[in-house]
Order: sequence, then structure tokens, then C-alpha cells
Amino acid sequence: MPKNLYYPNKAKIIFIEEQAPGMRLFGIRFSDKNIHQSFNFVPGQFVFLSLLGHGEFPVSISSHPNEKDCLELLIRNVGAVTGALFGLNVGAEVGIRGPFGNGFDIRKLYGKDLVVVAGGCGVAPLRSLMKGVLIERKKFNKIYFLYGARTPKDMLFKKDIQAWRKQCGVYLTVDEPDSSWKENVGLITTLFGSIRVDKAAVAVTCGSPAMFKFVLVELKALGLKDSNIYLSLERRMKCGIGKCQHCTCGDKYVCLDGPVFAFSEIKENPEVLL
Ligand SMILES: Cc1cc2nc3c(=O)[nH]c(=O)nc-3n(C[C@H](O)[C@H](O)[C@H](O)COP(=O)(O)OP(=O)(O)OC[C@H]3O[C@@H](n4cnc5c(N)ncnc54)[C@H](O)[C@@H]3O)c2cc1C
Ligand code: FES
Repeated sequence: MPKNLYYPNKAKIIFIEEQAPGMRLFGIRFSDKNIHQSFNFVPGQFVFLSLLGHGEFPVSISSHPNEKDCLELLIRNVGAVTGALFGLNVGAEVGIRGPFGNGFDIRKLYGKDLVVVAGGCGVAPLRSLMKGVLIERKKFNKIYFLYGARTPKDMLFKKDIQAWRKQCGVYLTVDEPDSSWKENVGLITTLFGSIRVDKAAVAVTCGSPAMFKFVLVELKALGLKDSNIYLSLERRMKCGIGKCQHCTCGDKYVCLDGPVFAFSEIKENPEVLL
């Protein structure tokens, strides 16, 4: 029988970590060992997390495929289903279907300078990518990780980012500093003055459409080609598998063709940066 892509598999919450106000990292393990072992994905893909009686929502996978213990999902409490999830404890049952979407093709980044640009919650799929890139560090030239959050308290994955400093250039910025903040203050665009990359560099970015507009200007100023700039987009989704049309963006389905697009593929589409 063909696999039913709408069918969620039972899974359990195995840890909950407070990351920032209203943001938690959930460790999720499938209840069926065979499903757990055979579940595979690439960085940049997403799953649907469901709660009986509440509904479901798409969420990026923040862990790396090599981390077999559990899936890690970074979730912001914004609405009906995420709100219900935040009321649960370790051991509670959830449903997971997926993985969906294309994810990042890491081979296209090999041998080049790489600039990863994350805004706020956009760091969720990029953490998975960064982990993958740093496992294969020697296959890349310079690597820069640029990340902006509203305040120091809103910075996510602080421990990971601290560890990445040993292997790549890390530049952080906030809009509203506190007395402990020692790094940059200002929009993410103010970090670009600190980096030097080759014109053949590749960039990967995830954040709000407003951030994309400004980041694209900086990446073009560095001389990057549109085909070497990858954006991970977010759209409201229902099915995740190209059936409902909720996620369409011009002629593209963000759930099927994306969520990762080269800018050259979508730049003629006026909806992309809305
Ligand atoms: C590919 C992808 C990856 C994602 N990854 C993550 C992730 O890693 N972490 C994360 O926290 N979130 C992620 N999201 C976003 C997440 O799916 C949404 O925040 C989701 O809506 C939360 O579900 P909810 O039921 O709790 O919120 P909802 O009740 O759906 O509300 C969410 C927000 O949308 C507004 N809203 C509700 N209905 C509508 C509507 N019809 N039109 C416009 N606005 C509406 C609400 O006011 C609220 O601000 C991702 C989304 C996509 C598409
Ligand atoms: S979410 Fe249904 S078509 Fe993309």
C-alpha cells in the first residue's frame, strides 16, 4: 500500500529546553523504533507536528540527520497549536508527518566561501545546515555565520553558536542591547562590513521577507550571483504536499518546490518578498 503522507506517526516529547521568551526547543522521538530508525531528512526540510484536538503546523527540523537520538524542533508560541504544545510536558504524545520540502543541497556549497545569514527564528533550519557544513568543514573555504535578534535574550542556540566560533567567523547583532551585550548593535546589514568573500561565494539566508530585501542588497554588493543566493521561505501551509495551494507563490509551491529557492528561480515573482 502506498504511504499516506497525511498520516502522522506517534511520537513523544523527550525533552523541552527554554531557549528564549516564548521559544522552546522540543526533542521528539517516534514511538515506533523502526519508524525512528528509518526516518531520514536533509537540513532545510520540515515536518508537520500535530496535537489531537488542536491541529497541526509546519516546523523546520533544527537538528542534523546524524543526530539519531531525536528530532529537535525550535518552536515559537504564536497561536492555537503551538500554544497547546507549550502546555505539554516531557512524555506527552504528539504526531509527526514528513519530512517535506527540498532542503539544502550541501554539494552546491562545496569548495566555496559561504555566508549564512539568519534573522530571529530563521536560525531554526540554518542550525541544521551549519551542523552539516561544520562536520565537513574542509570542503568549504571561508565560512561566515551572521545572526540578528531583537534583544540578547532573544538569541537562540547560544551554546551551538559559541562552539561554531572555533570553526568559522561568527558575527552577531541585536536591535536593543542590554548591559551584558559585547557584540554589534543594529540591523543585520551592519555586519556585512566585517566579512570578505570571493565573488563566487554562496549565501544561504532565512528570516523575514523584510530582512531578505536588505540582505539581498548586501549580497549583491559583495558580487554574489543570484543563482548563488539561497533563501528559505515560509508560507502558510495546510497539506505540505502540493495539494491545497495554500503555500503557492507565483508558479511555485513553497512546500514542494521549496522551501529553499535560489534567488535566480524566484526573483521575477513579486510575491516572494512579501
Ligand atoms: C516551512 C515552514 C517552516 C517553519 N518552521 C518553523 C520553526 O522552525 N519554528 C516555528 O516556531 N515556526 C515555524 N514555522 C511557522 C509555524 O508553522 C507557524 O507559526 C504556525 O502557524 C503555528 O501554528 P499555530 O496553530 O500555533 O498558530 P496559528 O493559530 O496558525 O497562528 C500563527 C500566527 O498566524 C496568524 N494567523 C492565523 N491565521 C492566519 C491566517 N489565515 N492568515 C494570516 N495570519 C494568520 C496568527 O494571528 C498568529 O500570529 C514554519 C512554517 C513553515 C511554512
Ligand atoms: S501546503 Fe498545500 S500545496 Fe503547499
